[in-house]
Amino acid sequence: MVGRGILGCFILCLSLASVCAVRGTLNSIKDLKGIQFGHTFPRHSLMLLHWLADNIHIDNNNKMRLNFNPTRGDYGFHFYGNRPPSLPILLPGSGSYYSLGNMNSFGSRGLPDYVTQRLYNSRGPESNMDRVVLRVREEESNPFIVDEVYVTQHYRRNENRGSAYDPANTYRVSFNLLTQIQRLICQNEIPRIYNVEINHNSLQELKNIWGHTPGLALLLAIVLSFTLPKVKGGCAQAVETQSDMEDKDNTLIKLELKTTDRGKARIIWSGIPKRLLDQGVMVVLHRNNNSDSKSELDRSSVGGQTSGSYNTSVPLNPGLQVRLHKVTYWWGLWSTIGEEIWRGSEFHDANREIPVDIIRHDASLQLFVKDGKACARLYVKKSFTAWKKTFNNSWVGFYSSHNKSMLNYNTWQWAVSFSMEKRSDLEDVPEYDIYVYNSSMVMSPGVQARFMLQRRSSEAARTLPWERVVLSATRPYQSGNTDEL
Ligand SMILES: *[C@@H]1O[C@H](CO)[C@@H](O)[C@H](O)[C@H]1NC(C)=O
Ligand SMILES: *[C@@H]1O[C@H](CO)[C@@H](O)[C@H](O)[C@H]1NC(C)=O
Ligand SMILES: *[C@@H]1O[C@H](CO)[C@@H](O)[C@H](O)[C@H]1NC(C)=O
Ligand SMILES: *[C@@H]1O[C@H](CO)[C@@H](O)[C@H](O)[C@H]1NC(C)=O
Ligand SMILES: *[C@@H]1O[C@H](CO)[C@@H](O)[C@H](O)[C@H]1NC(C)=O
Repeated sequence: MVGRGILGCFILCLSLASVCAVRGTLNSIKDLKGIQFGHTFPRHSLMLLHWLADNIHIDNNNKMRLNFNPTRGDYGFHFYGNRPPSLPILLPGSGSYYSLGNMNSFGSRGLPDYVTQRLYNSRGPESNMDRVVLRVREEESNPFIVDEVYVTQHYRRNENRGSAYDPANTYRVSFNLLTQIQRLICQNEIPRIYNVEINHNSLQELKNIWGHTPGLALLLAIVLSFTLPKVKGGCAQAVETQSDMEDKDNTLIKLELKTTDRGKARIIWSGIPKRLLDQGVMVVLHRNNNSDSKSELDRSSVGGQTSGSYNTSVPLNPGLQVRLHKVTYWWGLWSTIGEEIWRGSEFHDANREIPVDIIRHDASLQLFVKDGKACARLYVKKSFTAWKKTFNNSWVGFYSSHNKSMLNYNTWQWAVSFSMEKRSDLEDVPEYDIYVYNSSMVMSPGVQARFMLQRRSSEAARTLPWERVVLSATRPYQSGNTDEL
């Protein structure tokens, strides 16, 4: 008894000591204002918080439910252990930490452009340093419970302090703060309670850039209001340099990739400022964000159009990236590729990035593209050891449209014939084994994969159709259709 008491005390002290390592709790949006945290370009913590608030439900019992599964690596969440130095130590059974925000992780491409975009267009030591950390407990009845949320950051790259998080910039985020952000998502104007006096033009500028993401412009306006110029015209205008203006212009540029009906990459651009069109610009396709500017795959002039599209002959692959370049003319005779101006995010299909659960089994199905072909992944929880036996007669069908009947597939494969995926980052998803199948079917908008438990019945999962806009993008739908013959 005595021994246990001392041990208990020791543990209490340990956890108190580490609680102190956290700087404090952020209880409201106003608290975000007070800390110099993630306020400057290209920091992305405010976008991560907004994204999180938009993808959770907090119920009346203060329980958080997620639209995604952090333990499966969704959106690039990765396992962060249970005793990182900057966070309270977790005792066995009290959960594990999962971290979000590293743009080098495989799943992070599933995050929307508004979170990732700026990280492709900045080179500084502050790039890619912000993280959101969830404390996740798994329970029998519930898939998982999140009871703590933190925002934190790595040390700056030029500080040479390794890859740990910086405790001096680690804060707990209360559910109240997340709820406040959720409320903003349904608002058009800054609610009075924030007592923010923001210049109309400044707000309009934020809305021009972030207006397509509900609530984000308002969140930024409230948090950043003290750093934005209060008066427009006169002095404030004078300090805005030419290059500030150009940077602001550039943030309106949108460079996207979509799928042609032949599995090729289709470049779509919009928001190119007139200043650039007058000089001449082109869109250039690259394998990914790391490929150097000489190794382009395809290119096209934008032909003086603010917005437009170009169908390349390059098979679609995850990671492809469009960059906007100036065109350099040589005595009006020929042109070469000039300075780079802006980069799009690496290719992904966000709605499809999140696997759909196979009903009543610890497994899920994901549709993706590889070399222009439709492919599927099965995520099988390691604890589901009998999966090969259970799925002995199960198969995955590939359909050209969601309204094809069960036997109207283009191609199919047995689930047990999928091969185990080898990827360097899979230790980030320690609870799952991942199996893939490359089909021979050409990817195009509308393609869907479905999981059938038995030869001729029992559909147990269907993915969202490829690139089809769904109204509720963040809520992957599931289907329990039994498509009996
Ligand atoms: C993209 O590449 C640029 C230039 O190499 C780099 O600075 C930036 O951090 C990269 N962004 C991402 C998200 O990988
Ligand atoms: C480009 O691809 C899209 C989608 O497949 C198609 O609708 C469009 O007609 C194509 N444009 C050209 C010029 O081939
Ligand atoms: C399912 O199991 C049976 C024997 O139990 C075997 O003959 C059959 O080949 C298996 N099916 C698949 C798709 O592996
Ligand atoms: C259903 O599929 C057919 C082709 O099989 C297609 O012509 C039709 O547009 C589809 N309907 C919807 C609502 O997508
Ligand atoms: C699928 O295709 C990729 C590249 O095309 C290849 O590296 C991988 O080995 C293939 N996987 C299987 C299971 O055939």
